[in-house]
This record gives sequence, structure tokens and C-alpha cells, in this order.
Amino acid sequence: VNCSETCFGQGPPEILYVGSVQVPVFLKQEREYNEFSIDNAAEIHDNAMQWLHNVHGTDEKYLRETLVNHFALQPGFDKRVLVTSAGAGNDLEYLFDRYPDAHFYVQDIAYEMLEAAILRNQEIISGKKVTFFVCDALDLPIEDNFFDAAYHFGGINLFSDIKQGLHETHRVVREGGVIQFGDEGIADWMKNYEIGDVLINNNSLYECRVPLHLLPLEIDDFSLRYLFNNCFYLVRYVKSPGPKINLDVSHRGTRGGSLRTRFYGKLEGVSPELKGDIFDLASRMGISRVEFLETIISEGLKKYD
Ligand SMILES: C[S@@+](CC[C@H](N)C(=O)[O-])C[C@H]1O[C@@H](n2cnc3c(N)ncnc32)[C@H](O)[C@@H]1O
Repeated sequence: VNCSETCFGQGPPEILYVGSVQVPVFLKQEREYNEFSIDNAAEIHDNAMQWLHNVHGTDEKYLRETLVNHFALQPGFDKRVLVTSAGAGNDLEYLFDRYPDAHFYVQDIAYEMLEAAILRNQEIISGKKVTFFVCDALDLPIEDNFFDAAYHFGGINLFSDIKQGLHETHRVVREGGVIQFGDEGIADWMKNYEIGDVLINNNSLYECRVPLHLLPLEIDDFSLRYLFNNCFYLVRYVKSPGPKINLDVSHRGTRGGSLRTRFYGKLEGVSPELKGDIFDLASRMGISRVEFLETIISEGLKKYD
């Protein structure tokens, strides 16, 4: 692991060491700010995960393999991979195993969790291309389009601004790259049943919505699936240049016009009688209302200009 102080184009960060592993710290959570920034943070997280697996009849291996299988990076898009809110690094062995040549950039805001990730994965990371760094996922010290892909599980609901967090990850992934994230959020249909109330009563984060309404526009190949008995969502998409929508395809039929004319070409209101006359005449002439209006307006403009 070798990261110069300016490797992310922002900084300089404070450089801490976990053994011989350099950890640039751009911003870290205050100690004891929450359960992720205390001495035994990773053990507390292990207990929470074990409880979750016991409740849902799963285990860590099954979960992490499911997440990594779903990530499914295409050749050429697996060289630089960002892992945000990596916590104690439970995904790392599975990610490294699947993508042995990738350079992983492993991030969390809690130094204590990342420290555990390094100590627990010492053998796995030895000789691998990996950079650990501490910062807020809402403000990544990384240039636009730097990564081929980004992977996240379990931290989004804790972000101070979920939209900012999603857009920030999107910003640093290049077009064609995969972005995958998941967290608590029971499927809507479960909210109609008592089991939904039971789950939300235990952990209010289960009430969180899948943040589809907060995503950026440049998305292709979107998919949503649920894990843990439909209690956690998992979103995966490919960053695209944006929707390719032709605004100028004319409608056939009475109204006519296109997406562009109907939205950007709206005129002021006219008297209802005049409107009726216009619709009648267009109909009798066998042309669309838009064609009729555009014709008489053009002629009127020529006459009065
Ligand atoms: C429940 S743990 C999940 C850890 C790991 N991804 C996993 O699946 O085991 C949530 C993690 O999100 C991190 N986190 C919360 N807010 C964050 C933020 N704004 N930026 C980066 N990490 C954050 C926490 O520090 C914690 O390590």
C-alpha cells in the first residue's frame, strides 16, 4: 500500500498507520460519536450482523457472496473499485477473490472500523493493490470519473444527506461503470402487514425508502432486488450519459405536436369560443391542431412583423 499525501488530488490529509498500512485521514468521525467510533466497534458490528443472520436464516458468507455476485463487473470496468462505508471490511475477501487485479479504494468515516478492516484482512491485503482512507462519503477527495465501479452496503441510512452521498459516489465513477448499494428498507408491500410493524418497531431504519427519488439522471441497466426477507434493498445500475430521448417525434392524431412543442411551445390562453373554432377548422381541414396553429401563427407573424 503506497499512497502519497496528494494521491487523491485534495489534501493534504493526516497520515495514520495501522501496522505498516498508510491510512490518509481527510475527515474522521469524533471518537465515541456513535457505535462505529469506539474501541470495540467491529465486535459490536459483528454481534449486530450475527443477530441479523439468525433472524433471517442467513450467514456472512451467503450475504457477501450474494452482494459480490450481484456486482458482476464487466472486463475493463474492474480496475479501480471504490468501496464506501466499508466498516470492518467484511466484503473485502470476497471482492479481492473475485477481482484479484483490481485496485480497491476502501473508505469509511470511522477510523476505528477501518482499522479493524485492515487488521482483520492483513493476509488478504498483503501484496494487493489497496488504499484505505478515512473521509465522509458525502465529500470524497477524488476527481470526477476516477473509478470503474463503486460498491456499498449498510451505511446509506446513516448519511447526513442521502442524496448528496448517492450523487457523490456517482460523480467519481466513470460512464459505463457499475454502482451498487444496499441498506435497510423493507419492501413497500410489507408495510401493509403486521410483520412490517414488528420489524420497524425493532429498528426504525427498516422504514427507510429505497432512495430512488434521490438518484441522478444518468442511469442505465437499473435493477432493484431485496435481501433478508425483503428487509434490505440492493440497487445496481450503470452510469450512463443520460437519457437519449428524441423530443421532436411528432404525434399523429388530433392534437399533433411533439414532446418539445407540447412542453416548450405553450402559448397564452385564448377565448374558449376561438379555441372551439380553431379545433373545428383544423378537424375539417384534416390536419392536427398543432399543425393548424403553427400555420396560422406563422402567417400572422409574417403579416404583422
Ligand atoms: C452497518 S456498518 C456497515 C459496514 C460494512 N459496509 C458492512 O457491510 O459490514 C455502516 C458503516 O457506515 C459507515 N458510515 C456511516 N456514515 C458514513 C459516511 N458519511 N461516510 C462514510 N462511511 C459512513 C459507518 O462508520 C460504518 O462503518
